[in-house]
Amino acid sequence: MALLHTRRLLAAPRFFTAAANHASSWWSHVEMGPPDPILGVTEAYKRDSNSKKMNLGVGAYRDDNGKPYVLSCVRKAEAMIASKKMDKEYLPIGGLADFTRASAELALGENSEAFKSGRYVTVQGISGTGSLRIGANFLQRFFKAGRDVYLPKPSWGNHTPIFRDAGLQLQSYRYYDPRTCSLDFAGAMDDIARIPEKSIILLHACAHNPTGVDPRQEQWKELAATVKKRNLLVYFDMAYQGFASGDINRDAWAVRHFIEQGINVLLSQSYAKNMGLYGERAGAFTVICSDAEEAKRVESQLKILIRPMYSNPPLNGARIAATILNTPELRKEWLVEVKGMADRIIGMRTQLVSNLKKEGSSHNWQHITDQIGMFCFTGLKPDQVDRLTKEFSIYMTKDGRISVAGVTSGNVAYLAHAIHQVTK
Ligand code: LMR
Repeated sequence: MALLHTRRLLAAPRFFTAAANHASSWWSHVEMGPPDPILGVTEAYKRDSNSKKMNLGVGAYRDDNGKPYVLSCVRKAEAMIASKKMDKEYLPIGGLADFTRASAELALGENSEAFKSGRYVTVQGISGTGSLRIGANFLQRFFKAGRDVYLPKPSWGNHTPIFRDAGLQLQSYRYYDPRTCSLDFAGAMDDIARIPEKSIILLHACAHNPTGVDPRQEQWKELAATVKKRNLLVYFDMAYQGFASGDINRDAWAVRHFIEQGINVLLSQSYAKNMGLYGERAGAFTVICSDAEEAKRVESQLKILIRPMYSNPPLNGARIAATILNTPELRKEWLVEVKGMADRIIGMRTQLVSNLKKEGSSHNWQHITDQIGMFCFTGLKPDQVDRLTKEFSIYMTKDGRISVAGVTSGNVAYLAHAIHQVTK
């Protein structure tokens, strides 16, 4: 036996060694996973050599030349930071105090009773996703009333794995009506009124991702009354403050209204879009508590939760955001730039619809201009999306969502032509 074994090794040493390595690997059972539904689109786009290619997958703002856009207030804040020759010491576990305070103020409003009385805690998170994950882990550890998190149908693709991987269970409520490409308010109210008491409900504060469909203020009021009646724990995801209307206060209206109604919400914020700090990973997680003493206890536990995850958060993005928020001239400039980005997107929506008409499309595309924020839920079906990608090198997520931020005056006609070809 030993001789045979040796002979085989001598006869086909390479094959045998490879096979043996394979069989004995710790990871032989690991299956190839699918690409990420959103970030995987960018990977496919990068591999395409067509000069007309368009990436309308990931929500990342582009200027009218299709180039990534670094805000002028960000450049100025960076210069201010560089001139101060600051150190690179660790941040506290909960993050940069100037940043967390300014983030809470930005979301809640400077006149908010919750903000002024200090009955909140805000910790820095790793952009929107990391902040949501802190929240999900906090819920997993401390929310004793239940495990169920209700998401709007549909919701941002990453919400499900964030909450699932934290050990919570996902449920859904109706939100979007594909027949009208708009909000299914009656369906949402009907479903929410049936959610078991003390469950968790996730709401997109503004510029709903992926549909671009938000409730109106009167509808938010009804929603607030219902979740209060059902005694639901509300978790707001606010990744687009300023991007929906161009006005940061208007976009935070729902969050502020809920808190004014006595609903102690959880909130995640991101500066990826509204400051264009995508790769800097600046975000925040806030818990509104019943008083300042409770907030202190919650803060202590958030620190205990964060420390073994990543010890303490990254410095640079938080410094940039804090410098902008806390320097009056930069803050003013930022508000103008956010509005400029929101307005460019609104302009592209209008141009897309008029180009579709020019192409001769007889479909009703009004939802493109009715929807708001970075995304448009076009209503295109998966096979039409496939054709757009294969025949026109236009990349988007399978659900028919396009990032309008990737449309420019140079490529909008091409996009309209391609959409007309696959929908006529
Ligand atoms: C998106 O939905 O495209 C963005 O929120 C980016 C991301 O991380 O998915």
